[in-house]
Amino acid sequence: APNNVVNIVEVGPRDGLQNEKGVIPVSVKAELITRLGRAGVKIIEAGSFVSPKWVPQMAGTAEVLTQMERLPGVRYQVLVPNQKGLDGVTALLAAHPVSPPLTDEISIFTAATDAFTRANLNTTTAESLERLAPVTRAALDAGLRVRGYVSVVISCPYSGQVDYVRVRDVAKALIDMGCYEVSLGDTVGMGTPNQVSEMLEEVKKSIGVEKLAGHFHDTYGTAVANVLTALDHGIRTIDASVGGLGGCPYSPGATGNVATEDVLYALQGSQYHVAGSSNGTIDLAQMVDVGWWISEQLGRESTSRAGRAIRAR
Ligand code: HMG
Ligand code: MG
Repeated sequence: APNNVVNIVEVGPRDGLQNEKGVIPVSVKAELITRLGRAGVKIIEAGSFVSPKWVPQMAGTAEVLTQMERLPGVRYQVLVPNQKGLDGVTALLAAHPVSPPLTDEISIFTAATDAFTRANLNTTTAESLERLAPVTRAALDAGLRVRGYVSVVISCPYSGQVDYVRVRDVAKALIDMGCYEVSLGDTVGMGTPNQVSEMLEEVKKSIGVEKLAGHFHDTYGTAVANVLTALDHGIRTIDASVGGLGGCPYSPGATGNVATEDVLYALQGSQYHVAGSSNGTIDLAQMVDVGWWISEQLGRESTSRAGRAIRAR
C-alpha cells in the first residue's frame, strides 16, 4: 500500500524565532512548544545550541528545554553547528537525567554552496562536512539521532542558481556520516515547483526518498506548491513553521517557512494523512490559535494565509 502519512517537523521555535530582533523571553519560547505539543504536533525543533554571538535569539535553549511541557510521543530536536553545541546538549542531558530525556535528537547543517556555508558556519562546505562527521559519530554514540540539513538547494543569496549535483553530493555525505534523514532547504524561498522537481530528480539518484524531507521558505509565495511537488515525488516529511514565522539571519530578505496551518489546510480531504499525537493528527484550529498567539507575542499578525482566513470567518 502506498505510504500516505505525512510527517510535519514544526520548526517555528527554532527557524521561526532565530531571526527575531527583540529579546523573546524563555517563558514565551517554552510556552510556544507547549502549545504546539498540545495541538498534536509530533516533531518539534525546540531551539539551537549555536554561538550566541552569531544568533543571540537562541541563547536560552537549555532553559527552554527544561521549562517546556514534554508530552509523551512527541519528539523534540535541537540544532547543533559543532562539537561545542553537542557538548552543550550532552551536559544539559547529564544535568537533567529524566525519562524520557529532554531531547533525543540533534540536527546538523551545511549548505550546497561555499558562499552560504561561509556566511552560516564560517567555513567551506567540504570543511564543514569534515567537522560534522565526528560530531555526528559522537552524537550517535551518545544515543542521539541525527538529522541533517542542506541549505540553498535551489538558489543562493550570494552565488545565485545552485548546481543540483552539488545538492545531491552534500546530502549524500550527510547520509553517509549517519544522518537518518536530510532536509532539503530552499533557504531563500525563491524556488518554483519546476525547480524543486528538477532538484529532487537529481537528489533521488543517490538517496532513497524516505530519507528526504522538504524545507521551503515562502518568500515568493511558492512554498505550498513546493510542498505538494515534494509529496508528488514521494517525500513524506515536511518542515513547517506555525504562523509562517521566521527566516534565516544569513539569507537577507528571506521570509519564514511555509506556514504549518497552510500545509494542514492544503492537505485537507486529500489522499494524505498528517501524523499527529492528538486524535492521530494535528489540529488545524488549534494551530491557527497558536500561530496568532505567538505572532501577537512578537507584536504582529499571523502571516499564515489559512490562519488569517480562518480567524476572519
Ligand atoms: P566561529 O566564529 O568560526 O567559531 O563560528 P569559533 O569557534 O571561533 O567561536 C566563536 C565564539 O562562539 C567563541 O566564543 C565560541 O566559544 C562560541 P568566545 O571564545 O569568542 O567567547 N561558540 C559557541 N557558543 C555556544 N554554542 C556553540 C558555539 N560554538 C562556538 N555551539 C560557528 C562558527 C559554527 C560557531 C558559528 O558560525 C555559528 O554559531 N553558526 C550558527 C549559525 C546559525 O545558527 N544559523 C541559523 C541556523 S541554520 C538555518 O537557519 C538554515 C535551515 O533552516 C535550513 C534552511 O532554511 O536552509 C536549517
Ligand atoms: Mg530554514
